[in-house]
Amino acid sequence: MDLTGAARHPLWADTAPAGHATPHRPLDGDLTCEVAVVGAGIVGLTLAVELARAGRRVVVLEARHVGAGTTGGSSAKVSLAQGTRFSELGRHHGTDVLTRYAQANLAGQRWVRAHAEATGVEHAVRDGITYATSPEGRSTLEGEVAAMRSAGLEVELLEDAGLPFATTGALRVAGQLQIDPQAYLHTVLGHALAAGVRVHAGTRVDGVSTGSPREVRCSTATGRARVRADHVVIAAGSPLLDRSGFFARLEAERSHCIAVRVAGPRPEGMYLSVDSPSRTVRQAGQDLLVVGGNGHPTGRAQDVGSRVEDLERWAVEHLGAVQTTHRWAAQDYRTTDGLPFVGRYEPWSTDLWVATGFAKWGMTAGTAAALALHAQLEGRTEDWAQDWDPWRTDVAAQAPRAASINGLVARELTVGWAQAMSSPAPDPAEVGEGQGAVGREGLRPVAVSRVDGEVRTVSAICPHLGGVLAWNDGERSWDCPLHGSRFGADGSRLEGPARCGLARLDPR
Ligand SMILES: Cc1cc2nc3c(=O)[nH]c(=O)nc-3n(C[C@H](O)[C@H](O)[C@H](O)COP(=O)(O)OP(=O)(O)OC[C@H]3O[C@@H](n4cnc5c(N)ncnc54)[C@H](O)[C@@H]3O)c2cc1C
Ligand code: FES
Repeated sequence: MDLTGAARHPLWADTAPAGHATPHRPLDGDLTCEVAVVGAGIVGLTLAVELARAGRRVVVLEARHVGAGTTGGSSAKVSLAQGTRFSELGRHHGTDVLTRYAQANLAGQRWVRAHAEATGVEHAVRDGITYATSPEGRSTLEGEVAAMRSAGLEVELLEDAGLPFATTGALRVAGQLQIDPQAYLHTVLGHALAAGVRVHAGTRVDGVSTGSPREVRCSTATGRARVRADHVVIAAGSPLLDRSGFFARLEAERSHCIAVRVAGPRPEGMYLSVDSPSRTVRQAGQDLLVVGGNGHPTGRAQDVGSRVEDLERWAVEHLGAVQTTHRWAAQDYRTTDGLPFVGRYEPWSTDLWVATGFAKWGMTAGTAAALALHAQLEGRTEDWAQDWDPWRTDVAAQAPRAASINGLVARELTVGWAQAMSSPAPDPAEVGEGQGAVGREGLRPVAVSRVDGEVRTVSAICPHLGGVLAWNDGERSWDCPLHGSRFGADGSRLEGPARCGLARLDPR
């Protein structure tokens, strides 16, 4: 396999319109609007279009550039075949909830399809196929078929998945969609701008006031700015603000993707395995396959680089891959009971809103979330979104997972600090290329890394809630094992709930 020259960014960054990463003018000074939307991913931009078409004055505030978050790194299947999602939800919820989840995803899919057909942006109709490779996987698959049918979906059980390796069965949902998420997002952006939305990229939101109207505090490369808004919607992937305890009810999971060229014909469908480790496969462009898998909780995996190599080995052995053109990773959030959190940011909120927790199905569910939020801002409720209220009272479904998440977070916090404080300060001479190490310098844990020969020392403490960071050798970043904040080797904030970068410490 030829690995030379594989780009370390999503394939879609290369297929996006020229200049896609050029920031729309950062916010300069203060302004007033009806709705401030934080985040220019699929949720934020879809919502902005809907609201502006309904006559609202909308401003989108984006820390980096359009599609810089998870949407731009997604495998972008717009599909109701979602692995084992329906049977997993069925463990906590009844048939009525599953049915509404299916309806929400169908509503999201309809919106994406209508937009793609109207604009002609690259998209393809494909079968969504979930497959098994073991006898246990086969029975999991049958459980998924039953759960999907109970939710009212049309799904076929097949003996042959149509893949170039042995399987023990598959389920198929015909007529699903795959898109190029960057190209797609840019056509949504175009419609938003045409409808009068103001988009300010390079504009990071640092906080939102508690009073009304809300005051959104922002920072840009050149200074600070404020937006006064009747409503604020946090569509930033993570819930961002430290209030309301969202972080105790969410897990951040990172997944890896590669784009590969294959020697023979490419499988046509959009595939996802039920057996572990999970594998996702779809076509992209004229001659590539996107292959994904080997996900892990952010900041908690050892040796991330080897997970990507494992994915590449799998693509060679199972799909005949001959060249990797791109490698990347992205992260999404999972809630305690599996359903997204879409609606009131606080139980008493009437003007602060949030959308998160799509568990890697935000192309359909995230679009639906935007539609649901639009309805809520208009004083209506979409029937299919009633279970997505962040303050739903079905505590029984959430309690065991919440306890488990918080147990793991507490463990990571304690173990991280104990290890950092008992390790000597890292000697830069012993930190190899592409590596990072954490140790104690005086009373504080420090993090030392070497990337492209440059040694950097930063604080090893996450500015969000004090987690000790772990080096991600696959992406050359410092990742927090508590709630998924990530930072560059130079300490710059990349993503997650932390609202600033790491303190830079003088090279020793
Ligand atoms: C590897 C992977 C593959 C996936 N594949 C699929 C798939 O095939 N099908 C599917 O349906 N779903 C898939 N998903 C899930 C889907 O991509 C996500 O659920 C969806 O993109 C989330 O969209 P979003 O708008 O909520 O967040 P994002 O796309 O992350 O957008 C949030 C935006 O907010 C910005 N932001 C963050 N903080 C701030 C701040 N402080 N101030 C201002 N802006 C800020 C970010 O820069 C970002 O641009 C996948 C996820 C992953 C990780
Ligand atoms: S992301 Fe919460 S402590 Fe780091």
